Amino acid sequence: MAHLVLIVASDGMNMKLANKFAQTADELGHTTDLLDLAALDWPLYSNAKVNSGIEIENIADIVARLDAADAWIVIAPEYNGSLPPTLNNTIAWLSKQGGNFRALFTGRKVGLATHSGGGGNRLILAMLSQFNYLGADVLGRSLISTDSKAANPETIKAIIGGLCQ
Ligand SMILES: Cc1cc2nc3c(=O)[nH]c(=O)nc-3n(C[C@H](O)[C@H](O)[C@H](O)COP(=O)(O)O)c2cc1C
Repeated sequence: MAHLVLIVASDGMNMKLANKFAQTADELGHTTDLLDLAALDWPLYSNAKVNSGIEIENIADIVARLDAADAWIVIAPEYNGSLPPTLNNTIAWLSKQGGNFRALFTGRKVGLATHSGGGGNRLILAMLSQFNYLGADVLGRSLISTDSKAANPETIKAIIGGLCQ
């Protein structure tokens, strides 16, 4: 059985979608850890903040939680055809921990899902490109839901199955 971290970039419909993933993973005998990026409320990454020596109190704990996973499922809304700031900002901080920006991501199994206003295809492609660039092993199958298209339970199962082989 596997341990999944569900990385959730917004606390609205995407949190509801994350809870469906958590429930299905639990039914399949896997464990999950839900990481709520909005609740982290990390400062916006900037050179000025880094140069000022700012330290994010819980970043080592978050890295440890992410590193403990067999796979991640990233669940985020599309914003302006791309990633929402919570996710982009988190990735920026994580990529600057240690000397190798790909360290936490390399070889990581990653699944992608979204609940978006108008489709979410561009977000899925943007996340695929970014996580792939960071060295992750991104699952080809992804999940898209909207207010008029409910999340397909079979796709949720297939993503978990694909990550937990
Ligand atoms: C700043 C902003 C930009 C958005 N841009 C898009 C977009 O490009 N494509 C889209 O499908 N939905 C877009 N939306 C709609 C969100 O994806 C949608 O409301 C989603 O449900 C928000 O997630 P949440 O309910 O988990 O907060 C945008 C919403 C906001 C606030």
